[in-house]
Amino acid sequence: MFLSRLRNRERIPELMDNPGIDPGEHRRALAGLARINRLSGSTGVLWPSITRLAKELKRTVRVLDVATGSGDVPAVLLRKATRTGVSLEVAGCDISPTAIATASANCPGGRFFVHDVIRDPLPTDFDVVTCSLFLHHLSSDDAVSLLAGMREAAGRLVLVNDLARSRFSFIGVWLACHLLTGSKVVRFDGPASVRSAFTPSEAVALATKAGLMGTTVRSKFPARFLLSWERS
Ligand SMILES: C[S@@+](CC[C@H](N)C(=O)[O-])C[C@H]1O[C@@H](n2cnc3c(N)ncnc32)[C@H](O)[C@@H]1O
Repeated sequence: MFLSRLRNRERIPELMDNPGIDPGEHRRALAGLARINRLSGSTGVLWPSITRLAKELKRTVRVLDVATGSGDVPAVLLRKATRTGVSLEVAGCDISPTAIATASANCPGGRFFVHDVIRDPLPTDFDVVTCSLFLHHLSSDDAVSLLAGMREAAGRLVLVNDLARSRFSFIGVWLACHLLTGSKVVRFDGPASVRSAFTPSEAVALATKAGLMGTTVRSKFPARFLLSWERS
């Protein structure tokens, strides 16, 4: 049966990663993904670790979001920070100029730049480096180098929020992508992402290989995990 194939990771190229994607279709997909992130509480997965660090440091916390897409995650982080009196600076990078233009418009308080996070080293000078829904795009080797690069760039915290591969995730993501957006790209990429995703224990093994000793992982409803590493 098809669902039993989820036992093994099957990496499927996503339409949004195609450099030839039509910009209008790309913007629709980014908007659909932002809606799914909002309804599935994507930023809520990251916020508790960031606010805890802000209380400890008692100064502005600088966050870099890699492969930021439409910048919706940094935008919501910034809104939460303003509402709760946390001093936060956000930046985001993405390989796609369409994504960066969208992110700059969605989050005028952030700084966004085009950057290939696999080819080029990440800029440093950040307290926290986050990555949402991107790890599963990568080969295991690239995932290890990205995690090692995030570790180098993060003064204190690395947070990876991604889909967990499971039958439950596949069914949930398929339904969400068909109910919450009309974007054909998201309807293809969402379920493909679950097939490409790591399980939480596979993600910890990659992090350990990348030198992130003491990494912890927590399952997050509905279909995600949060991988956290803190510099001691
Ligand atoms: C599924 S989207 C996730 C966007 C966002 N983080 C979110 O949670 O909605 C994956 C993003 O990775 C970006 N991307 C793909 N390859 C990349 C690379 N080598 N360097 C930086 N960004 C990349 C894509 O352009 C896309 O915006």
